[in-house]
Amino acid sequence: MRVLRLKDNAEVCIREVSLGDLSEVYEIEKLSFKDPYPLDLLHTFAVLNSDTFLVAVKNGRVVGYVIGVLRWDVIGHILNIAVHPCYRRKGLGELLMREIMDVFRKKGARVFRLEVRVSNLAAQRLYEKLGFKKEYTIPNYYSDGEACYVMFKRD
Ligand SMILES: CC(C)(COP(=O)(O)OP(=O)(O)OC[C@H]1O[C@@H](n2cnc3c(N)ncnc32)[C@H](O)[C@@H]1OP(=O)(O)O)[C@@H](O)C(=O)NCCC(=O)NCCS
Repeated sequence: MRVLRLKDNAEVCIREVSLGDLSEVYEIEKLSFKDPYPLDLLHTFAVLNSDTFLVAVKNGRVVGYVIGVLRWDVIGHILNIAVHPCYRRKGLGELLMREIMDVFRKKGARVFRLEVRVSNLAAQRLYEKLGFKKEYTIPNYYSDGEACYVMFKRD
């Protein structure tokens, strides 16, 4: 567990997910995505990959989270990140990304991968700020037909 500060100086605690967090994670998921992960999928990640499923907690409430999976022991794959709409633009998304990359590094990863909707400019700016580069596009990646950029960062 780590206590960190947002841009407005507020403290947040970043720690591994527990099953009791999932209903709050799911609420943020529904507020954040057209195609939210179902609760049972979040539950599966929390059971099988709890060390790469981090939540940010402020005043006892989940305000953001990031979900990753280590692939082939070397690639840190970030599957999902969201910040509650009331807590955006305070530096939390960036903190969560930096934390999950540090968790992956401790497991030996030096390459990080993610997919992002071509229309999701806010997320693309975040990833570019952290050094991710767009390497290719996958058409029809999402269920509504939208393409994704596949982005990588190499240490
Ligand atoms: C993407 C998301 C996680 C960013 O979280 P956040 O806490 O608001 O981001 P931060 O405050 O840490 O911003 C870090 C950087 O990202 C970029 N950024 C974030 N939001 C942005 C926006 N709305 N417009 C442009 N750039 C943005 C900026 O470069 C920012 O750095 P700066 O503040 O120094 O300019 C958040 O907008 C979110 O939850 N979106 C909905 C879910 C989603 O799209 N997830 C990504 C799926 S691939």
